[in-house]
Amino acid sequence: MRELGIGLIGTGFMGRAHALAFNNARAVFELPVHLKLAALADADTERAQRCATAWGFAQAHGDWQALVNDPNVDVVAITTPNHLHYPMAMAAIAAGKAVYCEKPLAVSLEQADAMRRAASAAGVVTRVGYNYQHNPMIGLARQMIVDGELGEIISFQGEFSEDFMADPASPWSWRCEVEHAGGALADLGSHLLSMARYLVGDVVSVCADTHTVHAQRPAVKGSNALKPIAVDDQVHALLRFANGARGTVSSSWLKQGYKNHLSFEISGTRGTLAFDQERLNELRVCRAGQDGFQRVLAGPALTGYAAFSPAAGHQLGYNELKTLEVQELVMALAGQGAAGTDFEAAWAVEQLATAIRLAAREERWVDVGEV
Ligand SMILES: NC(=O)c1ccc[n+]([C@@H]2O[C@H](COP(=O)([O-])OP(=O)(O)OC[C@H]3O[C@@H](n4cnc5c(N)ncnc54)[C@H](O)[C@@H]3O)[C@@H](O)[C@H]2O)c1
Repeated sequence: MRELGIGLIGTGFMGRAHALAFNNARAVFELPVHLKLAALADADTERAQRCATAWGFAQAHGDWQALVNDPNVDVVAITTPNHLHYPMAMAAIAAGKAVYCEKPLAVSLEQADAMRRAASAAGVVTRVGYNYQHNPMIGLARQMIVDGELGEIISFQGEFSEDFMADPASPWSWRCEVEHAGGALADLGSHLLSMARYLVGDVVSVCADTHTVHAQRPAVKGSNALKPIAVDDQVHALLRFANGARGTVSSSWLKQGYKNHLSFEISGTRGTLAFDQERLNELRVCRAGQDGFQRVLAGPALTGYAAFSPAAGHQLGYNELKTLEVQELVMALAGQGAAGTDFEAAWAVEQLATAIRLAAREERWVDVGEV
């Protein structure tokens, strides 16, 4: 069986999620290639070594370029802060390696454009960490839409809110810098925009409002020294889709009570479906003529679920979605995959986010093709 060497950069929240997913994918799926955990890199060399040992990677590097150039690495997984996605992905592509990059793709539309072009010219497989789309319940929602069960789609109302920045004393981090693609729209909203495109299709025009509520935050936790903040804490936008559907999206990282509220309602001429990532194993569906919504639970009949459990209602979690994302990447690398959220699709998310920011800045409707 062919071997595929995995190189993972970063050992934070997402580095750990990727490491779990690569390990789990080997255990859960009958993959057509053998995944070899070849190398792990982190700027903190001691941590790279410790995590490599704990997570089963053969090599540890303190320098990410050594990982990219490691001949045992075929796939470079990037889980570092956003401003590092571009240099790391471009170096990996130049070395002819596949790239599995966290979202958002880049810190500017220009960078995202260069990345999709370089990947296309090199002919390497790319995927971006829009993991929520790999939920079997989202697969069911998409199938219902494609099969016309909701009739003609007329509306998408989506929200992705959390509260991890709600406390004004929550300190500055790279997520608070425009240059690092910070702000609620880039950090959370990008997932929602990708979901809207996946389920309803291209967006042609937008109008929006962005809002910075806390214009200063402590430079570090507990400090009296304050740093100015220019990124959005919350965003609200109206969308017009190419197929004629209308939509709203909003995102906030200040909304008390919400921890992972990626939610949407999609309505068509014959029905409505509703989803909330905080209850990710459920879909609510109402078909025309029913007196209210029916709750559908995830089960083994749905693609992706049975690999984890033979029993309905026993529930998948966040890390299983990441494992399903890795499976899709590996199938694409084995030449057996379907289209996925690659650099081209992730660039389109960046284009849409850029149009939303322009619409908010200039207080007008913006055609997405303008940016
Ligand atoms: N898909 C999702 O659901 C999801 C969730 C959270 C974060 N993310 C994305 O994942 C990325 C990382 O976010 P995070 O929350 O894991 O951040 P984090 O701060 O927890 O981890 C970042 C890691 O990158 C390492 N790093 C920084 N500079 C480096 C360098 N020069 N060389 C090597 N390693 C370096 C850090 O040491 C750390 O291990 C971001 O792009 C973020 O948007 C995605």
